[in-house]
Amino acid sequence: MEVKRISTGSEPINSFLNGGLETGIITNVFGESGSGKTNFCVQTAAHLAEKGEKVVYIDTEKGFSPERFKQIASKEALEKIVLNEPLDFGQQEEAINSLEEIAEEHDPGIVIVDSMVSLYRLKAKGNQVQEVNQKLSQQLSQLSKIARKNNIPVLVTNQVYSSFDEDSIELVGSDVPRYWSKCLLKLSNSDKSVREIEIEKHRSMPEGKSAQFKITDEGLESVKNRGLF
Ligand code: GTP
Ligand code: MG
Repeated sequence: MEVKRISTGSEPINSFLNGGLETGIITNVFGESGSGKTNFCVQTAAHLAEKGEKVVYIDTEKGFSPERFKQIASKEALEKIVLNEPLDFGQQEEAINSLEEIAEEHDPGIVIVDSMVSLYRLKAKGNQVQEVNQKLSQQLSQLSKIARKNNIPVLVTNQVYSSFDEDSIELVGSDVPRYWSKCLLKLSNSDKSVREIEIEKHRSMPEGKSAQFKITDEGLESVKNRGLF
């Protein structure tokens, strides 16, 4: 099936990604708390909903704010959001396993999971790690299938933890989400006003490519000065 690029509704992000999110694969946006992952999801959802597409949105941490959504999109667009809010990792599994049915009913333009690993992290403590990793892998496999079967993008977010060598961060779930995500995008917010997006893995773009953006009331916007001083 032909790979299409789906607009995120954000000018700097679209131009960075040569048009937007690729269909047929999982794009994983990862980064520290406050780096902009949820904003990325909400803006993409708002943009697609505004165009009349259904959006399946699995929100595991009450990050989806209808108020924030309505700042960037209309009230009618909000009705295009098929929201699911699992409370534990078991419910997340159920939500993901029901996606084939949901996709048949709603024919969504995108599936979003924000975040993939917050409920996983609660479960992955103690000696259950292997079993829980296997479940995470199954869920990502299912998401990947949905992306391919419906030729839509699947957008997931991922928390990080500091790894042992200083300065570097690692995805929660490490190899599992790394393996399943054909596109890995790292967000960082070392400076609150200027944020950065960097490619960590991509099928057709170089690793390390980066761009800047800022978060405003309207969403993820370009840092370029528009007006004259
Ligand atoms: P976690 O979910 O904690 O891991 O963080 P995240 O990566 O999802 O970050 P999120 O997308 O929630 O971004 C938080 C940042 O967005 C904060 O710095 C907020 O100040 C900023 N932000 C959120 N809403 C608005 C808004 O309406 N206007 C502006 N200007 N900034 C906002
Ligand atoms: Mg968030």
